[in-house]
Amino acid sequence: MIDLINSVENKIKSILNELNIQEDNVKVVESNKAGLGQYQYNGVMAIAGKNGYKPQELAQKICDLLIKDDNILDANVAGVGFVNITFKTSALINQVNKYEVEKDKICVVKNHKIFIDYGGPNVAKALHVGHLRSADIGEGLKRLARKLGYEVISDVHFGDWGRQMGMVIAGIEERMPNLPFFDENFKGEYPTQSPVTYKDLEEIYPLANIKCKEDEAFLEKCRKYTYELQNGNAGFVALWKLFVAESMKPVLKTYDFLNVSFDLYEGESTCNDLIAPMVKDLLDRKVAYESQGAVVIDVANLDDKVEVPPFLVLKSDGAAMYSTTDLATIVNRQKRFSPQEYWYVADNRQSLHFTQLFRATKKANYVDENTTFTHFAFGTMNGKDGKPFKTRDGGVMSALTLIDNVKTEIRNKMADNNEVNDEICDIISSATLKFADLSNNRETDFIFDIDKFCALEGKTGPYILYTTVRANSVIKKAQMSDIENFELLDIDNKSYIDVLLNLIKAPVVLQRAFEQKALNVICDYLFVLSNSFNNFYSQTKILTESDESKKKSYLKLCSLVSKVNEEFLDILAIKVPERM
Ligand code: ARG
Repeated sequence: MIDLINSVENKIKSILNELNIQEDNVKVVESNKAGLGQYQYNGVMAIAGKNGYKPQELAQKICDLLIKDDNILDANVAGVGFVNITFKTSALINQVNKYEVEKDKICVVKNHKIFIDYGGPNVAKALHVGHLRSADIGEGLKRLARKLGYEVISDVHFGDWGRQMGMVIAGIEERMPNLPFFDENFKGEYPTQSPVTYKDLEEIYPLANIKCKEDEAFLEKCRKYTYELQNGNAGFVALWKLFVAESMKPVLKTYDFLNVSFDLYEGESTCNDLIAPMVKDLLDRKVAYESQGAVVIDVANLDDKVEVPPFLVLKSDGAAMYSTTDLATIVNRQKRFSPQEYWYVADNRQSLHFTQLFRATKKANYVDENTTFTHFAFGTMNGKDGKPFKTRDGGVMSALTLIDNVKTEIRNKMADNNEVNDEICDIISSATLKFADLSNNRETDFIFDIDKFCALEGKTGPYILYTTVRANSVIKKAQMSDIENFELLDIDNKSYIDVLLNLIKAPVVLQRAFEQKALNVICDYLFVLSNSFNNFYSQTKILTESDESKKKSYLKLCSLVSKVNEEFLDILAIKVPERM
């Protein structure tokens, strides 16, 4: 979509051309100071001298010609040769209207498939805040890519297969040794109810973990159980299925709260049948080799700055591990989907693992040469002390604890607000948490300051929701039908024009967010647009405006802001409440 800004850039290019100045890199940018014009061209100083002009003189020539452009209200020279540009309001309106018509057509990419792996919860372990980040960021990236026309397939990649599984089985056996799952001679039907709840599992796993460190025999038993599960021990498989399903319950509830969902709810275990043939194939083709009983692939490059150790395909005890299942999962995904891109959203401490995995995959020729792999790493969510989030007693902060804290804070804030019931409180709490998570640069660690993120003012979820609900409520109160089809008029109202100036940026924001895979670009934009709308709202009589055509323009503006806010919040998987 050629937009207003591009058209001015092209115009300046052609003006320069007529003056015999060849300049391809013409950038028109937003003014950083109020009162100077809406946009600026700051390139004159760099090109004037070498083309025999004084900067101000060249800038003036550009302005004289720019001002003749149909879209431009004013162009003038500032300082040593800056070109200030102000658009006609009608040009802004045309641009906004064009976006409305064309927005579903921005960058429709054909035949480009992305496979995204995010979430990554683990059986028998509560979600921690890192899993929250993966879920929020992954869901946002998925929706953003879809918005721009990509086909995206998502998978939660449940952690349901590694050594922990043997530990859980052995842990359950310690508590309930008489269950039929552990009886080798059992011939009947296994129970269909899980003998443990997810709460039990969250105790059983850590206890087994401690015991493994202290008790060599128990560790050996866990290893054996893992191996047996992976190789089809009927009792273990039956028990495993039950506790996996049980573990999923709270996870799915949390995903529901976060408005996160997947196309595939598969796990590390899904690829199990592919592991043995994969290992054989890797050995046969000499991609992998045996080393001290383990099977490995060398993945170091000569120019590596940090050491990249060999990729472990199988451990010496023959059990499949995290790396094994990740590689076999690619074999599986490749067979079924053959995407052009693989995306993984996991915290930055896993960077080395993904480097090894991606190199091993390429070395094994499991994907086409052009297939790309990206690990979208993210930083840690820290507490106010700047250290990784801990509960009050020093334990790892579970996602549910954090969610509860936010819910309590929001409920307190909304206590006097009769509009807000429990359901709305949940929507606001979810928005608060997600917006806080996504408004920070993905890669850097950030401090989760609950007071700041729950505030109704500032760059927060509640503020953006509040603005959207406010726009919606003006529309409702107007009690007029067909507001969406009202016309925007050229009105001399600065706060109205400021909103238009922000609305024209919407498509560019989407593109930039996608290019940088940065959802904070969307959050920043929502904040700026909301600020300008609130400013307009407080300075303008909308419902009491006596000039009917003005009133209609203002209402149309409200509906546009509401639409863009809702559309962009939806990319972040944030819902907007009816009232607030
Ligand atoms: N379950 C892993 C964890 O909790 C995250 C999984 C990431 N995805 C993957 N394909 N390795 O750390």
